[in-house]
Amino acid sequence: MDVYRPRSEDRFSFGLWTVGWQGVNTFGSAVRGPLDPVRAVHRLAELGAWGVTFHDEDLVPAGTGAAERERIIGRFRGALEETGVVVPMATTNLFTDPVFRDGGFTSNSRRVRRLALRKAAANIDLAAELGARTYVCWGGQDGAETEAGKDGRAALDRLREAFEVLCAFIRERGYDLRLAVEPKPNEPRGDVLLPTVGHALAFIGELEHPEMVGVNPEVGHEQMAGLNMVHGVAQALWHGKLFHIDLNGQRGVKFDQDLRFGGGDLREAFFLVDLLEREGYAGPRHFDFKPPRTEDDAGVWVSAQACMRNYLILREKAAAFRADPEVAEALEASRVGELAVPTLGEGESVKGLLAEADPDVEELRERGYGFERLDQLATEHLLGVRG
Ligand code: GCO
Ligand code: MN
Ligand code: MN
Repeated sequence: MDVYRPRSEDRFSFGLWTVGWQGVNTFGSAVRGPLDPVRAVHRLAELGAWGVTFHDEDLVPAGTGAAERERIIGRFRGALEETGVVVPMATTNLFTDPVFRDGGFTSNSRRVRRLALRKAAANIDLAAELGARTYVCWGGQDGAETEAGKDGRAALDRLREAFEVLCAFIRERGYDLRLAVEPKPNEPRGDVLLPTVGHALAFIGELEHPEMVGVNPEVGHEQMAGLNMVHGVAQALWHGKLFHIDLNGQRGVKFDQDLRFGGGDLREAFFLVDLLEREGYAGPRHFDFKPPRTEDDAGVWVSAQACMRNYLILREKAAAFRADPEVAEALEASRVGELAVPTLGEGESVKGLLAEADPDVEELRERGYGFERLDQLATEHLLGVRG
């Protein structure tokens, strides 16, 4: 039996646009043909995935008439029913059409903003109909190349307006749906609005219904900015805002690579899985990757399967790390648990603190924290030479 075979309780999901990516990039044209969403659902189900997600246009191409739209949705529903694959999340494409060249919700053009809101609302109806509980908002083209062309404060006002309008719409319709902001620092725009998890969390705090909005951090997006994804996710969890997550791989500060999960920074992937599992994160484990252009159709599925396998392998490695008695001892020596103890005692005041005798600073100065030992133990678990 393959112990790394995914099961539905692992809650692994994939965007139709991931396995369906045709490999168009800035310099190269498509290397693969279009992928029928019905085939995607069947192939993902065979590999053990639990869910599938989509942008409006991944499922129903732009400009499709009403009757054809119904036929496409009907076929898709049929595939879901046949396979048991669910739709945990959906999102809007507000970036491909030239009309969105200056963004959707924050385009300088009011007419474009109205169009973007209509597009999002129409797809929210479909998302709810298909049972999605999360609606991701990624404003890829919402940004700028020059400060001269964009009033940053007004852009945030319009973005807030868009979220208020969509939240009101969801409440009015009575949908059990929450929004998740996906931060990204750049690409396709020179600079994108809400570039990091921290920016998104601060923005959400200004909304009328902040409880309806959380974040969808993506591994590569934090790492493109040189930031630590594990720290970003820890803060999202601390705020109760980790509504969804995009798992993939990235090697350092450069263009968005969208490598398969486990590609790129493997150590950070290890600590991310460790965090999600220890925190009991119950949401979807969503892979937002792009099978490289070098791959043919068979390679696409190898890459998709590897995302799930790598998560399961890392989960096993992280559990072994946590169960290792030497690790327990090293954690103790590093005083990792002590950070959970409040700095002041219950009822203690600063006055009491000031009245206290001076600590033995010399001893505090001298004692190291032993993180190297701890980190080496983690490294050895990851490399498979322990546990
Ligand atoms: C990217 C983004 C997108 C979004 C998707 C959902 O790679 O730049 O992550 O893939 O996740 O459009 O809105
Ligand atoms: Mn990405
Ligand atoms: Mn993403």
